[in-house]
Amino acid sequence: MRMRNKPGAEDELKKNPHVIFGPEDHNNPSGHWHHIFNNSNPIHLEIGTGKGKFIMDMAELYPEINFIAIEKIEEVLLFPARFAVKNQQENLMLIYGNAQFIDEYFSFSEVERIYINFPDPWLKKKHYKRRLTHHRFLERYKKFLQIKGEIHFKTDNLELFNFSLEELPQHGFEIKNFTYDLHNSKFFKNNVITGYEQRWIDQGKQICRLVGVWTGK
Ligand SMILES: C[S@@+](CC[C@H](N)C(=O)[O-])C[C@H]1O[C@@H](n2cnc3c(N)ncnc32)[C@H](O)[C@@H]1O
Repeated sequence: MRMRNKPGAEDELKKNPHVIFGPEDHNNPSGHWHHIFNNSNPIHLEIGTGKGKFIMDMAELYPEINFIAIEKIEEVLLFPARFAVKNQQENLMLIYGNAQFIDEYFSFSEVERIYINFPDPWLKKKHYKRRLTHHRFLERYKKFLQIKGEIHFKTDNLELFNFSLEELPQHGFEIKNFTYDLHNSKFFKNNVITGYEQRWIDQGKQICRLVGVWTGK
């Protein structure tokens, strides 16, 4: 389901050449991403980008990577969408849609890495299946993530983090590394701070991070 709040936002997104509407708009990019980017560079995907600080910074820092971000709220997606046009950021594409259908946007082995940054923790047990690291989502990711491809996950929520540390290995992902205090860890070196991460840093919260590698099983 798409969230419509800001008048004119959808029209603006539809006119933006960096934004993909689909697959239900018959504009399905699955299997065509390298054609869309006009190169064969690796594809990295962020799920739930919000106002897109992370993906905008990453696209600028790593021009040799193709970045795609999905977001279901149109008014926040306007930020990276406007940035991509203004900056002529050819290695950045955005999907206006719901990650529930993420596997419909990509074909087998099309994505090298997935970033999940500060997703909603869904703390009630009956809502666990909505967690972006729940096995229902992991099974979708496996349909298009390369073998040895990685999930990079950050959260401030300890319960969601511990859940994910158990959930990934049970569903074919090896934990390559993890920390409960990213900003004081050896993994901090190349960390790119997201919009929500900055909020939590300002409040003195610790950030948890893990990297999971898909074993192909
Ligand atoms: C808490 S915000 C974090 C935003 C950003 N990743 C950051 O770290 O600053 C979570 C974002 O994920 C988006 N989101 C949550 N579930 C989603 C889904 N199923 N499909 C697409 N976007 C989703 C929300 O709309 C929201 O913008």
